[in-house]
Order: sequence, then structure tokens, then C-alpha cells
Amino acid sequence: MAVKPRHARVAGRKSSSSSSSSTLVLTLLVMFTFVILILLALGILSVPSGSSGDSPKANDLSSIARNSVERSEGDDGSKEQWVEVISWEPRAFVYHNFLTKEECDYLIDLAKPRMEKSTVVDSETGKSKDSRVRTSSGTFLARGRDKIIRNIEKKIANFTFLPVEHGEGLQILHYEVGQKYEPHYDYFQDEYNTKNGGQRIATVLMYLSDVEEGGETVFPAAKGNISSVPWWDELSECGKKGLSIKPKMGDALLFWSMNPDATLDPSSLHGGCPVIKGNKWSSTKWIRVDEYKV
Ligand SMILES: *[C@@H]1O[C@H](CO)[C@@H](O)[C@H](O)[C@H]1NC(C)=O
Ligand SMILES: *[C@@H]1O[C@H](CO)[C@@H](O)[C@H](O)[C@H]1NC(C)=O
Repeated sequence: MAVKPRHARVAGRKSSSSSSSSTLVLTLLVMFTFVILILLALGILSVPSGSSGDSPKANDLSSIARNSVERSEGDDGSKEQWVEVISWEPRAFVYHNFLTKEECDYLIDLAKPRMEKSTVVDSETGKSKDSRVRTSSGTFLARGRDKIIRNIEKKIANFTFLPVEHGEGLQILHYEVGQKYEPHYDYFQDEYNTKNGGQRIATVLMYLSDVEEGGETVFPAAKGNISSVPWWDELSECGKKGLSIKPKMGDALLFWSMNPDATLDPSSLHGGCPVIKGNKWSSTKWIRVDEYKV
């Protein structure tokens, strides 16, 4: 019986010492919290936030980013330039006012006398063939052909971080009312076409003219809410079948046919919608994984 109170005393001492150490911890915690709060209030610390930033969440097409790459305030007549993230699946970006009006007109005038009916690549033989899926006319302008083209090709290399030497020649395309290009991949599914330069990794599609109606570039396999793009109401019926970009003179669309792990990206499926009103001129730069020898 004499043992019991001693036990109780020991237990009592123990609990009082543990309560004083927990009070200490609590006091330190409160002090630490105050320091953090003061630092936050002074703006010395900042809370990283995913939602209040400018970057959109993947596939959230309603919060398209407006990232300024370079602002030219028109003293030399040039327009404001910025890059817009359009989609992450496929990876697609629009560089607004990438080409000047003079560059667009130069490419059109150079190509005009050389236009031929467009062909597509035969996936069995790898050779060019006529096709009903592609009804435009076009021509190729050799890489490094002249000073203006070399400058455009350098701009493309700056935009894509891919060397000029990996690019094919510039292709100029003309679509009249009713002309289109059915959805297709830019990557090859044959051996023949990848011998020089390897697979096509990315495409830069430059719009050389405005199109009154239709002529959108459509990605029917894009992931995300396609109807949340701000220009949804202006799209043609064809344009509403996927994620669409409306052609605007000087704008450049960059999209990737390959994923960062070098596998092919089937969400890069894309087509040119039929022109409904007006004329569409565009220029395409296909870029390879390796150097493309000309
Ligand atoms: C490409 O980028 C470099 C480095 O930023 C710059 O000096 C050059 O003017 C750019 N070239 C073109 C054609 O935009
Ligand atoms: C897609 O976006 C539109 C326009 O912002 C919206 O009205 C619609 O509810 C969205 N659909 C889905 C499935 O989130």
C-alpha cells in the first residue's frame, strides 16, 4: 500500500515535466508562426501558387497564356509580338506577328509563278502522289535561298530552338474557296522519307494572309475543352471539329509531332479546313530530328 502514493508521485512528476516541455514547443511554434506571418506581410516570402499565375493548366484552353517574348512598340511600324500557348496535347503555340507584312508579300510574290497542284506522300512507296485529300496548290523555296528567307529561317530557329540545318525548304501553299487538306500527321510512317534527316519533329505553319471565313488549322485529336477557345463562335463547322486556330496574316503556329521522349504524338493530327470566303496563303517549315541535307 505504501508503494502506491510513490508511484503516483513519480507519475505526477513525469507528467508535469512533459507538459512543461510541450508548452515550450508550443511557444516556439507560435513564435515561428508569427515570424512567418510577419515575413509574408512584408512580402519577403511569397506563397507559390498554381492558380493565380499566368500559366494555364495542361489542357485548360480557357486560360490561354499571353507570354510576351518581345514587345516592339511600333516605332518602326512593326506590330506587337507575343507567344500564346494553345494546347499541351498536342504541344502547340502561336507566335503573333511572327512575320511582317513585307515578308508575307515577298513569299507570296516569289511563289506565285511557281505554283503546282499539291501532292501527298504515298505511305507505301514514300513517293509523292496526287490526292483528293489535299486540294491546294504549292511550291518549295530552297533553304537559304536569299537574304529574306535566311532571316525568316533564323527566326524559326530562334522560336523552336531547332537549328536552321534541320529544316526542309519552305513550302508555300495557296487554298482557294473550297480547297482544304484533310487531317493527317506530319511525321512519316515509311522508311524512305526518314533517310535524310530522320523523323519530322516539329512544324511551323505561317499564315501569309488573312482568311475571311474558314481555312482554320484544326487538331481533331487535341485533348481538352475545344469549345473554350475565345474565338469559338467565329469558327466554321469544320473548325468546330477540333481545336482550331484561325489564320491571321503574320502569325506562326508551332506544333510538335513528337513527344519529349522522342515517341510520335498522335494528338498532332491536323488538317486545313476548306476556305469558305477569301483566299488562304500559308508557308510551312518542317523540321527534322537531325540535319536535313539539301
Ligand atoms: C535570333 O536570336 C538572336 C539571339 O537572341 C538574336 O541576336 C537574333 O537577332 C535573332 N535573329 C532573328 C532573325 O530574329
Ligand atoms: C467547355 O467550355 C465551354 C465554354 O467555356 C463551357 O460552356 C462548357 O461547359 C465546357 N465543357 C466542359 C465539358 O467543361
